[in-house]
Amino acid sequence: MNSNITHDLAVPLNQEDKAKRAFVTALRVHVLQHMSGSMKNRYEDYVKPEAQKRGNTCDTPEHIHKALKSDFMFKAYSSARTCAQEMVFDVVSDSVDREFETLRAKAKPVAKKGSLTLDDSVEIPKSVSEIDVHLAPGSYHAEYTEEDFATGAVYDNAIEVFSFGQFGKDSNDIGMTLSNYVRLKFPDFKPAKILDAGCTIGHNTLPWAQTFPEAEVTAIDVAAPVLRYGHARAESMGVPVHFRQMDATAMKFEDNTFDVVFSSMFLHELPLKDIHAYLKEAYRVLKPGGLLWQMELPPMNQMPAYDNFYLNWDTYYNNEPFYGTFRRQDYRKLLTDAGFGAEEFMEATMPRYTFVGEEAYKEALSGENTFDTLTGRMDPKGTRWYGFGAWKK
Ligand SMILES: C[S@@+](CC[C@H](N)C(=O)[O-])C[C@H]1O[C@@H](n2cnc3c(N)ncnc32)[C@H](O)[C@@H]1O
Repeated sequence: MNSNITHDLAVPLNQEDKAKRAFVTALRVHVLQHMSGSMKNRYEDYVKPEAQKRGNTCDTPEHIHKALKSDFMFKAYSSARTCAQEMVFDVVSDSVDREFETLRAKAKPVAKKGSLTLDDSVEIPKSVSEIDVHLAPGSYHAEYTEEDFATGAVYDNAIEVFSFGQFGKDSNDIGMTLSNYVRLKFPDFKPAKILDAGCTIGHNTLPWAQTFPEAEVTAIDVAAPVLRYGHARAESMGVPVHFRQMDATAMKFEDNTFDVVFSSMFLHELPLKDIHAYLKEAYRVLKPGGLLWQMELPPMNQMPAYDNFYLNWDTYYNNEPFYGTFRRQDYRKLLTDAGFGAEEFMEATMPRYTFVGEEAYKEALSGENTFDTLTGRMDPKGTRWYGFGAWKK
């Protein structure tokens, strides 16, 4: 398996690492494409008609889940998918453990372009510390040695195997897609200060510094190990980003600081009360005329019941307990509750910028939003990203 990781902190892979990663990648593709297809067929042809005979209307994701839960195909799909998820972390941890000391030397950069500011008074929220989020051992924050960065290194390698390369080179496609969306959609908007909330290792933060080279880019997260690794990674790539350990629900920035506040795949890992708190903070720290944007899972009200059932699987089986609650929200209302005007609400589905290229991307942006089975879904056939946001007046 060829790695899409191009920076200096890439783990040198031996033949065994490559074989293991290739196996897990192939297993995930098999589960997400072939087994999920078979499960859908079985649902339509057999499970649904049988459930309807028993009075289950099968018209909501919960009803569909109930109908399928005891079926062998769903059990096989779920257990294979869970095993594959655990194996993603197993196989990459092997190589990170082996190369730990080499990585440690590289993960201690002298700040050249950006910076790293840690704050050990930041409390790790229970939504991070009480569960191994999406079955990642140690979640985002666990530290086993001084100045530990291993959860960051594991994450960087894991998302590549997890996404079977679909996040693009250095897993930066969501960041490239959104930053270029903003550049192309709002050509007169020239952000000077940009904030990423819940940045993890900054793989989707760095594209903002590349797309808007004049801007100062800051990235916050509660977890020190991912920030240490993210900072070293950014420095190794020569991209200036200021990483700070900070809780996005109680930011230490002054009012009206940023031109853009964005997050990527962050909200669905927060309890609802923290989503509200973060969005209020985002509103506060945005300048008037500033832009808020969240790249996220598509809302349930835009998707058919079966796709909602399929997307919400993680809520029950992948240690993502807040997933379903988030998707059930009216996203416009989340923003108006935080202070944004209802008429300012925007949402968009976007093809993957680094895969389709600038011209096809521009063309897609001039059309209607497309909500289909590829929207927000990790599928070997492709993915269409979804996001929503608003201007602060
Ligand atoms: C799913 S990851 C985000 C992934 C990343 N932004 C991306 O583009 O793929 C969620 C991140 O949010 C962080 N996090 C969770 N709660 C937080 C909070 N209240 N404030 C700041 N970061 C938080 C976690 O430590 C984790 O790194």
